[in-house]
Parts: sequence; structure tokens; C-alpha cells
Amino acid sequence: MNKVIYEQEHDLSGINSLADLQKLAGACSRCGLRQGCSGVVFGEGNPEAGLMLIGEGPGADEDRQGRPFVGKAGQLLDKILEAVDMERFTHVYIANVVKCRPPGNRAPQTGEAAACLPWLYRQIELISPKIIVLLGSTALQNLIEPGAKITVMRGKWLVSKSGIKIMPTYHPAALLRDAGKKRPVWEDFQKIRDEYLKVQ
Ligand code: URA
Repeated sequence: MNKVIYEQEHDLSGINSLADLQKLAGACSRCGLRQGCSGVVFGEGNPEAGLMLIGEGPGADEDRQGRPFVGKAGQLLDKILEAVDMERFTHVYIANVVKCRPPGNRAPQTGEAAACLPWLYRQIELISPKIIVLLGSTALQNLIEPGAKITVMRGKWLVSKSGIKIMPTYHPAALLRDAGKKRPVWEDFQKIRDEYLKVQ
């Protein structure tokens, strides 16, 4: 595709409300994922809360329900939030790198993520969070640095050019596979909660 046209198609700066962005994203077919999924999973939570969580992409349960993090990993995420006195509709807004389910729950390919990221970037601009938590390597590698390692970067604060504090941590699905990752994530979310209380 011609690069100039591609960039113009991705200019969402004229979209000034989350509702309008959601409507447009709902009609997106910028990559092949839309053909294989039931619908676009835009995101949910409290856009005023100042803390945004970013995962990888919808799985089968999310695809069915049209909501992010509602399967097993999502239930664990709710428990992690509860452990630090937080709740998804009150304290956070949750979105993903890609908004359509990759087949077989594979990680999104680079081109799929690149096609979808402008929706997320505009979502971030409109929500204007003070803190972003990147859940797992797909979010870390697509938002920070392609080669970044979650094992090295987790638990460390980064700061975006616009001053947003960013913390990568393990994806809740990784905790379901490896219980040894629970403690580091628990520690990360305590730091996140402490920072949240400072900036709210
Ligand atoms: N995993 C993700 O990364 N996002 C979801 O929405 C659900 C599971």
C-alpha cells in the first residue's frame, strides 16, 4: 500500500470522543484479523481513572462477549486488581494492542499490530492516562521496543515523551502457566497502586 495513503488513513486526530473512535474502529478492516473474528473488542473501564492497562488481543471469550479480559486471564486480572483495592470499572481502562482476535490465540503479527495501533494511540490520547501498565511482551514490544524482554523490563518505570508513567509487567496468562510469576506481579501492582494514589 502507498505509504502516504496508509498514513493518511491512520490519521485519527480529528476524532475527539471515545464513542466516535469506537464506532469507527467497529467498522475497521485494516488487517486480515477482522475477517476471522466476531467483532472488534474496543476496550472498557473508566476512561477518567488515569490508569490504563494494555494487553495483547482478544481471546475466544473476549471475542464472544465483545469485552477485554473476560476469560481465565481476565478473571485473574480482576483478582490482582482486587488485591490492591482496585476494580476494572472504577480505577482502570483496559484495552489491547489488537482489537480483533488472532486465530488460535496466536500473538498478533507485526503488520496486524501496526494496522491496529493507531486506534490504541488515539484511545490513549483521548483517555490521557497518567499511568499505563503493559501486560506482557506483546504490549511491551509493540509500544516500547521490538526486542525488549519482559523478564528484564518488568517492574521498572518508564516515562513516555508526553510524561505518562509506564510499567511493563507479566501478562496474567503467564501467571496461569507459571505460578512463580505471581509474586513479581503482585509487587508490580503494589507499586502501580502507590503511584496511582499519588497522581489521582
Ligand atoms: N488476553 C489479552 O491480552 N487481552 C484480552 O483481552 C484477553 C486476554
